[in-house]
Amino acid sequence: MLSRPVWPQLEGIAFGGDYNPEQWPREVWQQDVELMRKAGVNLVTVGMWSWSLLEPTEGDFDFAWLDELLDLLHDHGIAVDLGTPSAAPPAWFFARYPHTRVVTADGVSLGFGSRGMVSPHAPEYHEAIVRMASKLAERYADHPAVRMWHVHNEYGAPVAEDHSDNAARAFRAWLKDRYGDLDALNAAWGTAVWSQHYRDWDHINTPGTAPSVVNPAQKLDFARFTDAALRKCFILERDVIRARASQPITTNFMANQHWGIDMWAWADEVDLVSDDHYLVAEDEDAHIGLSIAADLTRSVAGGKPWLLLEHSTSGVNWQPRNVGKRPGEMARNSLAHLARGADGIMFFQWRAARHGQEKFHSAMIPHAGTDSRVFREVCQLGADLRKAAPLKGSSVKADVAMLWDFQSFWAQDLEWRPSVDLTHKSQIRAYYERLWRDGITVDFVLPGHDLTGYKFVVAPAQYMLSEADAHNLNSYVASGGVLVAAPFTAAVDENDAVHVGGYLAPLEPALGVRVEEYLPLRKRASVNVQLGDSNVGATIWTEHVEPTSAEVRGTYVDGPVPDKAAITRNAHGKGVGWYISTCLSARELQRVVEQVYADAGVRPADLPADVELVTRIGEDTAYTVAINHSEQKVSLPLAGIDLLADEEISHTLELERGKVAIVSHPHPLIDELNRKENT
Ligand code: GAL
Repeated sequence: MLSRPVWPQLEGIAFGGDYNPEQWPREVWQQDVELMRKAGVNLVTVGMWSWSLLEPTEGDFDFAWLDELLDLLHDHGIAVDLGTPSAAPPAWFFARYPHTRVVTADGVSLGFGSRGMVSPHAPEYHEAIVRMASKLAERYADHPAVRMWHVHNEYGAPVAEDHSDNAARAFRAWLKDRYGDLDALNAAWGTAVWSQHYRDWDHINTPGTAPSVVNPAQKLDFARFTDAALRKCFILERDVIRARASQPITTNFMANQHWGIDMWAWADEVDLVSDDHYLVAEDEDAHIGLSIAADLTRSVAGGKPWLLLEHSTSGVNWQPRNVGKRPGEMARNSLAHLARGADGIMFFQWRAARHGQEKFHSAMIPHAGTDSRVFREVCQLGADLRKAAPLKGSSVKADVAMLWDFQSFWAQDLEWRPSVDLTHKSQIRAYYERLWRDGITVDFVLPGHDLTGYKFVVAPAQYMLSEADAHNLNSYVASGGVLVAAPFTAAVDENDAVHVGGYLAPLEPALGVRVEEYLPLRKRASVNVQLGDSNVGATIWTEHVEPTSAEVRGTYVDGPVPDKAAITRNAHGKGVGWYISTCLSARELQRVVEQVYADAGVRPADLPADVELVTRIGEDTAYTVAINHSEQKVSLPLAGIDLLADEEISHTLELERGKVAIVSHPHPLIDELNRKENT
């Protein structure tokens, strides 16, 4: 194996997008490369949707057009992120191997004419993708334009789970490996319920549609198996590329859309972490969702710089109402990703498609052409990113962590939970938004991670928690940490079985409460919680909580358990555990988190509304990115050099509505060290 860099060899911040020239005649290619130069593009992704051109019939390869394209890009100084086309096998493949199609839980075999319809468990698919990846690697490993590899596209989207015969066979093999014998499987799945004992491996199937709800432990294992099988496909391609090529290899995650893959496990397999992000148009504060995705991506990357591989210049085409971006919004989005650790800003796609499913999706060159607001903003962004080059390689430091556990989300999403209204997405959003509005940057972590150094840790949606992970959280608190847990925490273990001792039992040392009963509310109902001498409104969910050692800080005024504890604080060892047993909005959470901040010694930033402030720390300089999402001009106490405006700021940054500044200034810690040396 060759040793490999973790970042593509490129000057400055990566800037560009998906490029699909196979949809255009040659004269457009020439215009494209010239316009890319004008816009400051230095990297494009090609080849992801080209299988039917690269291998027109089985075993016959045609690379002439790709040779020509890579040479053209290289001649114009544009580097290439070379995609492998495994997300869309050609028509001949399905005609020849019809049983490689994905089968749904209802037994429907998914047809051709779309993408992502191949079973990740089919041996013929494995053979075909390995053959293609090795041909590409042989031919292009030494091409000077190729600076990174991009395997597949968004594993798990549009469908991850497959119920074909290939899938069932592979599932049984995976289960044998996990459990060793059927007794262990029967115990883990709790098959005594509804007479499900298995006495023969061949009787086990994928959890397809059944008359009633299917065993949740089986479904959870199926989700784990699917994730592992997709990862195996990635590794197959990655390893044949690695054997020949020295450039870094990635695949694009989708932190905010598709949660069927466990990004933590995948991050260990890629050389560099990359993400695709699309705003949720219905969300009026979609930039907060963007921050969640960016912080999550940085966190799974272990704090190392990551690459935004796709986002949109304006509206997308696949949401019910595809709201376009307002002037300046694309720059705010791009620079928010940069602020949160991205060293590259890319789009889907370079030129809007005339044909097909995605023709109404925005692009760097829209259908209106280059005399357009969008293209002008793209060129401006290219220029801004050149000015932001000093940020490359700098990192983001967060004092606060939030738990994010994909497997727990998969389990929570299964059927027959106490309330459909309590979702991990909404819980994470409420807590994250509170911290975002208080100017506090968070890292996401798994409950088993080393939490030392975090001033507090929030668990907004840790429904599933193993004993070992609970031990880690209890120890974190005992040694001085502050833990905040939200409702429905630690209900079950890793097999989706309720903890012995009841809900939350493994966290009793840290939190000092027992939960007797979950008491969800009717749709749109609310309750009041008395906090000090006033009330806050809560919705969706309440619990009957009995403190064992915690003090009560908030009490239900009404609802199913009036006068009982709603919010508690527990001193444990050198630290503190908070339990919030109901759903509070980001606004209502303010009065609770104020007390958490005091416990943790965290000072929230006194920011004007809707202003985002994040600092990246370089070797001897820090860069504070200030983004004004509001409709008002704001003044911020910042001094340094505004890299974008190329202006010195002596003590106050005046930031117009909708604008972004990147202020470089000495790193406060370095300042402190200098002061110490001089005294
Ligand atoms: C992504 C996908 C791209 C494009 C884009 C449109 O999920 O990777 O190929 O389809 O969505 O928003």
